[in-house]
Amino acid sequence: MSKNTLSITDNRTGQTYEIPIIDGVIRTMDLRQIKTGPDDFGLMGYDPAYMNTASCRSAITYIDGDRGILHYRGYPVEQLAEKSTYLEVAYLLIHGELPTPQQLEQWVAEITMHTMLHENLRTFIDGFRYDAHPMGMFISTIAALSTFYPEAKEVDDRQIRMQNVIRLIAKVPTIAAWSYRHRQGFPLVYPDNSLSFAGNLLSMVKKMTELRYTPNPVLERALDVLFILHADHEQNCSASVMRSTGSSRVDPYSAVAAASAALYGPLHGGANEAVLRMLTEIGHVNNVPAFIKEVKEGKGGKRLMGFGHRVYKNYDPRAKVIKQLADQVFEVTGRNPLLDVALELERIALQDDYFISRKLYPNVDFYSGLIYQAIGFPVDMFPVLFAIPRTSGWLAQWLEMLDDSEQKIARPRQVYIGVGRRDYPADRPPAYRGPLSATATSR
Ligand code: CMC
Repeated sequence: MSKNTLSITDNRTGQTYEIPIIDGVIRTMDLRQIKTGPDDFGLMGYDPAYMNTASCRSAITYIDGDRGILHYRGYPVEQLAEKSTYLEVAYLLIHGELPTPQQLEQWVAEITMHTMLHENLRTFIDGFRYDAHPMGMFISTIAALSTFYPEAKEVDDRQIRMQNVIRLIAKVPTIAAWSYRHRQGFPLVYPDNSLSFAGNLLSMVKKMTELRYTPNPVLERALDVLFILHADHEQNCSASVMRSTGSSRVDPYSAVAAASAALYGPLHGGANEAVLRMLTEIGHVNNVPAFIKEVKEGKGGKRLMGFGHRVYKNYDPRAKVIKQLADQVFEVTGRNPLLDVALELERIALQDDYFISRKLYPNVDFYSGLIYQAIGFPVDMFPVLFAIPRTSGWLAQWLEMLDDSEQKIARPRQVYIGVGRRDYPADRPPAYRGPLSATATSR
């Protein structure tokens, strides 16, 4: 008869252990009982980069990487991209269910009411060098927000928690836009609360001398759909940083700043920026075969940016939606000439054995940058545009972590491989010779 357990025989001792399997996993703490003797610490799992370790039980986002499936709270992301709005999706991620019309109205009103930033943040942003990377400004300004809302550290108070969740979702577009305007040397634009979430971002980014900026509805919707697609992606690098940092019970501004820093890297949210730089470097479809050859030869660690994913071993479902979205955007903005390079890269890569055997398919970042560029964003704004919607996902992960009675401060173990105990050399002059040193007191 089948049992939901795992039998392990320790060949060092000949002892057999039976470990429960629940939801397809074993608890690595159950391995700790496996010892060679009373002084043995017990067996641990070794899993660099968490390749096969679940760090939480989560009800937010479901991914089936082999089949290319992504659900938020059970809803397929393609359906949400077609029928929902980013703010409705943010509500879904945070609260677990789609809002009623009244709940949605109140949620949108609350977020809209909190789009303004404290005036001191103008001076704060002004302190950055004229050419500062907007993501550096974004991360630092979010961290600075914790000093404006010191009560946010009361993370066990549900009301305070939710108030700061709303503030964060509402303020990230303003911080993003102001980082961009500072970089461009343009005057900062205040939020226009009569516009939608995406429309207001476009206004704060693009408005010049006109009294009121009216966003193009196609571009406004395209941006909103991109926000839906980027809102959450379960336990990726930045989400686990959010949970890890939040597990120390720090305020959510500091935790979102940490998660944003993780997102900044070129292997994560910085990849869309790297894709555009790569497409620009390739420049023309004729140069694609030579580029692919260099990637396959691993020259200088070169990778096909926007391809491959730790979880998806199939076409990223988000990339499919984005590819369709690109056509609608290009009808308004004109075709991005780099699209041809991207299409040719995809065409060649998808029939090349190197990419097929490693299950490397386009991911979310492969086409999103082309759309951002067509809308008029410079490449260094791309990771910031990723961070805006991901804030709601990080916060949903953070809230779930705080309510999970099994979670404690995150603290991985290590396998120590350094030298054993040794004494500071007696014949070495001590580096510290101050008043508290043994040599000084004995003098
Ligand atoms: N181009 C060429 N080869 C690749 C690529 C790529 N983009 N990605 C993986 N490989 C190769 C890699 O060299 C390795 O080959 P081998 O077995 O011969 O050593 C094999 O595929 C497995 O790669 P890996 O690095 O072990 O896979 P990983 O799961 O650790 O990395 C990844 C996942 C996303 C970091 C990686 O695929 C990558 O660097 N992609 C390019 C950057 C990118 O587009 N990142 C955005 C990810 S999606 C947005 C997000 O969720 O943040």
